[in-house]
Amino acid sequence: MPKVKLQQNDLVYEQQVEENSNLVVLAGIKKFPHLKYGCGMGKCTKCVSKIVSGADQLGEPNWKEKKMLGDKLEEGYRLTCQLTITSDIELTQE
Ligand code: FES
Repeated sequence: MPKVKLQQNDLVYEQQVEENSNLVVLAGIKKFPHLKYGCGMGKCTKCVSKIVSGADQLGEPNWKEKKMLGDKLEEGYRLTCQLTITSDIELTQE
């Protein structure tokens, strides 16, 4: 099972998740309660996270991420609600 490490300010949350999980869906059912998110549909950017490691295992950004994040994609930011977790990942949210 992939391990997710989420950093928010000085706090670090680590949890294993089922393969092919979506962290916003897990947050919605209180299995990843610290994650910040909003619409869950790629429209609000409240779920934006910077990928610290594991970015190479994520799929290519979809059109929603390209539209909402623009140049921030190249800085390592992704819309967490649009990601499928298939392997270990470390991310930060402000
Ligand atoms: S939760 Fe709104 S864009 Fe991800």
